[in-house]
Amino acid sequence: MEIYLDNSATTKSYREVVDKMIYALTEEYGNPSSIHRKGVIVEREIKNVRNEIAKFLGVKEKEIFFTSGGTESNNTAIRGIAYANKRSGKHLITTKIEHPSVLNTFKDLESEGYVVTYLDVDDKGLIDFEEFKRALREDTILVSIMHVNNEVGSIQPVDKIGRYLSKLKRKVYFHVDAVQSFGKIEFKPSRYNIDLLSVSGHKIHGPKGIGFLYVKENTKIKPILTGGGQESSFRSGTENVPGILGLGEAIRITMTNIKSNIENIKNLRELLLKEIKNNVDDIKVNSSDDGVCHILNVSFLGIKGEILLHYLEEDNIYVSTGSACSSKKKGSHVLLSMGLSDKEIEGAIRFSLSCMNSEDEIKKVVKIVKMRVEELRNIINKR
Ligand SMILES: Cc1ncc(COP(=O)(O)O)c(C=O)c1O
Repeated sequence: MEIYLDNSATTKSYREVVDKMIYALTEEYGNPSSIHRKGVIVEREIKNVRNEIAKFLGVKEKEIFFTSGGTESNNTAIRGIAYANKRSGKHLITTKIEHPSVLNTFKDLESEGYVVTYLDVDDKGLIDFEEFKRALREDTILVSIMHVNNEVGSIQPVDKIGRYLSKLKRKVYFHVDAVQSFGKIEFKPSRYNIDLLSVSGHKIHGPKGIGFLYVKENTKIKPILTGGGQESSFRSGTENVPGILGLGEAIRITMTNIKSNIENIKNLRELLLKEIKNNVDDIKVNSSDDGVCHILNVSFLGIKGEILLHYLEEDNIYVSTGSACSSKKKGSHVLLSMGLSDKEIEGAIRFSLSCMNSEDEIKKVVKIVKMRVEELRNIINKR
């Protein structure tokens, strides 16, 4: 039996998601732009999903735009705001621990003449609110800060940031990458004064290649994908109907069970942490207790996380060393920014949980982790 603890990289789809996608691929497969009945039916189905998402978020239907996922949502938000508002200023603020889809977009904008401030984080992976306030300038047009970090699970004070920005005399747009927080933290974009919010389907037991961007009404933003005018001309391209309908199912299930899901996952994370602390020596916990419910990052000192990962894989246990997108590259920019030593970074493993995990799985994982860590340390000590 496999034990999958890499849910921040991606999740297994709910059965209902798969069934809905099959329906969209085999029964109602029309193009929503077609004016015949098969098109109109699909157009209505998409409208229903958009409406449901809007209701869950407490926003307007016309403020939800489907995209191909977190990366596209982040690119669209950041580039779209930067290009449309460059006359008001070219200064942008973000953090050093964003996902590459944010960091590399800012790097690109720097080469186009924009100026970016990258905020530092402390050893808990949190920005300093005072440093954020000091970073704001007369020509700042956008602040983009992730809600939950994908490697360590730190939760940024987006409520405080949003409130502060909304009180400024001039408009500074606020974008939040909520890919790791959607469904794991209960919040509403309007309560946090968020202007743009990125969400991805495959992190919440939905399909890959689908997500959405919430864009507050009257936001000055330039579309990135131009073409046939779909999504109110904001995101052209024939809609990913199976993806959208599958996403709708995933969001419906996620939001219906959000309170109990968060509670269950949090309990599993606490159990995992307690068991690791009680059974394995020489570790450093890189996630703080008040981090998100589903992510626990731990360094097993003296061994290479990558080797441990492959040992665990032999036992059908799946974890990660850093984020899936960056784990093939050396080191973790997140752990480095948090001030971890090379040894601590090298031994880091990210366990990320979901509502599909159980207590038995957690206990089994810790037993095997303990065994594998001891085995690896013995090999190293004999050298
Ligand atoms: C915080 C964060 N933002 C963005 C993304 C990218 O999302 P997607 O895989 O849907 O492009 C990820 C994926 O790992 C993520 O964790």
